[in-house]
Amino acid sequence: MTASYNLHGDVAVIALNNPPVNGLGLATRVGITDGLGRAAADPAVKAIVITGAGKAFSGGADIKEFGSPKSHQEPNLLSVILAIENSTKPVVAAVHSVAMGGGLELALGCHYRIAAPGCSVALPEVKLGLIPGAGGTQRLPRVLGVEVALNMIVSGEPIKSEMLASLPGQKLFDKIAASAESLEQEALAYARSVAETRPLPLVRNLPCKHPVGDAYFQFARNMVAGMSKNFPAPLKCVDAVEAATKQKFDQGMVAERDLFINLMWTPESKALRHLFMAERATAKIPDVPADTPQRAVNSVAVIGAGTMGGGISMNFLNAGIPVKILEMKQEALDRGIATIRKNYESQVKRGKLKQDKYEQRMALLSTTLDYADLKDADMVIEAVFEEMGVKETVFRKLDEVMKTGAILASNTSTLDMNTIASFTKRPQDVIGTHFFSPANVMRLLEVVRGEKTGKDVLATVMALGKKIKKTTVVSGVCDGFIGNRMIEQYSRQAGFLLDEGCTPAQVDKAVEKFGFAMGPFRMGDLAGNDIGWAIRKRRALERADMKYSGTADKLCALGRFGQKTNAGWYDYVPGKRDAIPSGVVAKMIEAHRASVGVTPRKISDDEIVQRLVFALVNEGAHILEDGIASKASDIDMVYITGYGFPMHRGGPMNYADQFGLFNVVQAMNRFATNPLDDADFWKPAPLLSKLVAESKTFN
Ligand code: NAI
Repeated sequence: MTASYNLHGDVAVIALNNPPVNGLGLATRVGITDGLGRAAADPAVKAIVITGAGKAFSGGADIKEFGSPKSHQEPNLLSVILAIENSTKPVVAAVHSVAMGGGLELALGCHYRIAAPGCSVALPEVKLGLIPGAGGTQRLPRVLGVEVALNMIVSGEPIKSEMLASLPGQKLFDKIAASAESLEQEALAYARSVAETRPLPLVRNLPCKHPVGDAYFQFARNMVAGMSKNFPAPLKCVDAVEAATKQKFDQGMVAERDLFINLMWTPESKALRHLFMAERATAKIPDVPADTPQRAVNSVAVIGAGTMGGGISMNFLNAGIPVKILEMKQEALDRGIATIRKNYESQVKRGKLKQDKYEQRMALLSTTLDYADLKDADMVIEAVFEEMGVKETVFRKLDEVMKTGAILASNTSTLDMNTIASFTKRPQDVIGTHFFSPANVMRLLEVVRGEKTGKDVLATVMALGKKIKKTTVVSGVCDGFIGNRMIEQYSRQAGFLLDEGCTPAQVDKAVEKFGFAMGPFRMGDLAGNDIGWAIRKRRALERADMKYSGTADKLCALGRFGQKTNAGWYDYVPGKRDAIPSGVVAKMIEAHRASVGVTPRKISDDEIVQRLVFALVNEGAHILEDGIASKASDIDMVYITGYGFPMHRGGPMNYADQFGLFNVVQAMNRFATNPLDDADFWKPAPLLSKLVAESKTFN
């Protein structure tokens, strides 16, 4: 039963009961209309209360039914609300904890609403690229006024019930209960007090006007357009609320429905809904069930107080977990701690962190030069220099000192986790935690599962990642893991584009217009072109078959490492970050083209974007085949949270699905005639060919 029906004297209580947040799935909707029917048929019932069991009134649509036929099967939410409005006995919504989306729309359909203080109230549909679709855009302005309602609908952000109840003239809540505990009793009393009231009030009958309508909506459109550049839904929220002010209620409902249905089909909404599900799916690992036992992690040790060690430590301090950092020298510790302090102090200055919170966090931090001091930590994360020899020394030492059952993690970005695990006698306890820089800011955490990593260790680290608010994605062991393995193909393709006729600025602009935060060459200048140089030197020894454009090596040979040397693919004025096209680089590229015998041609922005994105997609397909990622949506999460891939495209694999995998392969076949790439670059991954043959998609 996902909704219960109980009599309390002459009041019937329908309690939604569909954990965790009483999503309005089909069974719950049926439960509500059945309850209404029973109450109507029972002469002893004088009034009805609808409330939510457990932790919420209702969080809205049931995500388990997302996109399935059940989500709109009758009674759909509109029909449920109509049944409530048509009830001849008063219906009181008793809301607490969470009333969001469809949950709030359900409450707005009731004759009366009583709320517990502290309830989060929101219409968050815009975050999925939609507008509310069950009357929210028509009813909320009628109870809160046009401006407050539009702000809530456009932002999707929750507001507390008592805050809304304090707005002058509001009709959202008829009463605020003294507490969540007394809500039910107060709702029963309220229901009895209105049992005889007729006619029953309906939100749909309230007026909806703005005193300077046209001017206000013009202003609202300008504001919203500026803030929502790649997403159509926010402007449609304005259209829907405007319809509420200009049309009769039922016509406004039709306008809302049309806008909602059109948005459902937009690639932007599909992308956002895909990412919503993808984020939740990251925690699902095929052979590690949800009930896998976990180890307790109540203290963490970090080896190395450099760029990464400091940022990694901050994540745990922020979550209230004590951290002990070990370094080889006191100076290195002092420098690391000073950086952490500086980061926190800047947050305090910007009003993002309270002084007392800052002090609490620093109090959880301690340092040492002695491995023996780490022995009791539940988990240790190594972030020392990226050299196998150094990692070996550290892991042998950790194996000696750490207590039994401690998790031994490495932040390596390129080294083989299985080799690192082999330095210990407990490879089952060893795992990779690949944070991204700056580690206290970037959302992505790739968790690298070694051949022998224990399932309990993996489950523990996944849960811990969530606790420190990361998007945590599992990767198998391979060079570059998921993210960097793919970006290497993207960078190689960017190089070939220069060889064939593009300038760095042209490539960057095309990719940025597509929506990337930064094009590949500006990115290289920011990260340091010497990093890629080192990788290519290593590759030349390991995989001589892998071809690169020679331009990047020539750039590095000129010492142009990027922003840090005030010269890279672009020129930089010291102290500034503006990328200025460089004459030196233009000449270097021309000379390079001549040396490889290429006559430059004009390349369209579409071709640039497709070559870069499909290079990611094809490598992504290989990664799936190799079992490095267990699902395509994990790859999308890596790219959205770690590499600035545009949200509204939903990640590379989702983009390819929407572009059509057949069309992707057709484009790759065209690019394969490119004389400069190595012969295999555009050979579709077998998985990609198979999906095309079966008319399937990645996701
Ligand atoms: P870093 O050079 O800033 O810091 C390394 C620190 O480790 C230094 O403070 C050094 O004194 C200390 N150290 C070296 N050997 C040690 C030892 N035996 N015992 C104790 N401390 C020792 O390096 P960074 O950038 O923080 O990188 C650390 C690790 O994180 C590397 O494995 C790197 O590949 C990885 N990584 C780096 C990223 C980045 O963007 N910098 C991103 C993701 C991973």
